[in-house]
Amino acid sequence: MVSRRGRFGKYGDFKRKSLLRAQRSLPPKDTKIKTAKGQSPLPKTRYQPLPPQFSVREAHMGDMPFIRSLSLKAFQQYGPYEESIPAWQAYPSTITFMAARGIEPVGFAMIGPSFEKDSGVSELLAISVAEPWRRRSVGTMLLKAAEKRATTLGMKRMVLHTAVENLAAMGLFRKMGYREVKIKKGFYPAGQDAVMMIKELYPPVNP
Ligand SMILES: CC(C)(COP(=O)(O)OP(=O)(O)OC[C@H]1O[C@@H](n2cnc3c(N)ncnc32)[C@H](O)[C@@H]1OP(=O)(O)O)[C@@H](O)C(=O)NCCC(=O)NCCS
Repeated sequence: MVSRRGRFGKYGDFKRKSLLRAQRSLPPKDTKIKTAKGQSPLPKTRYQPLPPQFSVREAHMGDMPFIRSLSLKAFQQYGPYEESIPAWQAYPSTITFMAARGIEPVGFAMIGPSFEKDSGVSELLAISVAEPWRRRSVGTMLLKAAEKRATTLGMKRMVLHTAVENLAAMGLFRKMGYREVKIKKGFYPAGQDAVMMIKELYPPVNP
């Protein structure tokens, strides 16, 4: 058992360093690190350009092939959403946001007016992030952009549906303040049940 003063007693660190110097693990006490005049003794690091950051913008027609192909990958287990999602985009009230890394699209989110009872409710029709870019807050950025626009349009609430087994999506939505309101049996064309989730947009929680 080592005492409270440590293995090297009262002058612990001093003794420890002397011992290391004696064993040549440390340079002698007064050694100066030699550098050319005005140079830092730290090793020079090569300049690394920062990777382009993610940004969010509104979608245009040129984004449709990406949206279609990502919808196929992300939603084919639920039904033919690679057909439905581009078709929804054709409605004038639909707004689609694209997440991009530089100029490369990496995800999208689509909102439109909800068919639930009152007006003033926007629906998140779809959200997806390409697999390599998941868990980097891209989904969060897209959802925030969608909520912000819905709020600007005077919407008081956002609703959405997601498959009951879709834990990643539910994790995102819960983290963003959505709460489950009901289960809809056989909601998807392939038969899976959906959970309907809702968030009050006013007062804004994620400005
Ligand atoms: C759901 C989806 C859009 C999330 O996108 P994302 O960019 O990975 O999400 P974020 O990085 O912003 O994650 C935010 C939070 O969501 C939760 N989350 C995201 N992915 C998760 C996962 N695989 N498992 C558990 N929680 C997850 C976490 O709480 C996460 O916060 P953290 O990373 O600090 O833990 C993405 O997984 C996806 O495209 N899935 C396929 C399409 C889909 O299912 N869409 C939803 C139905 S419409």
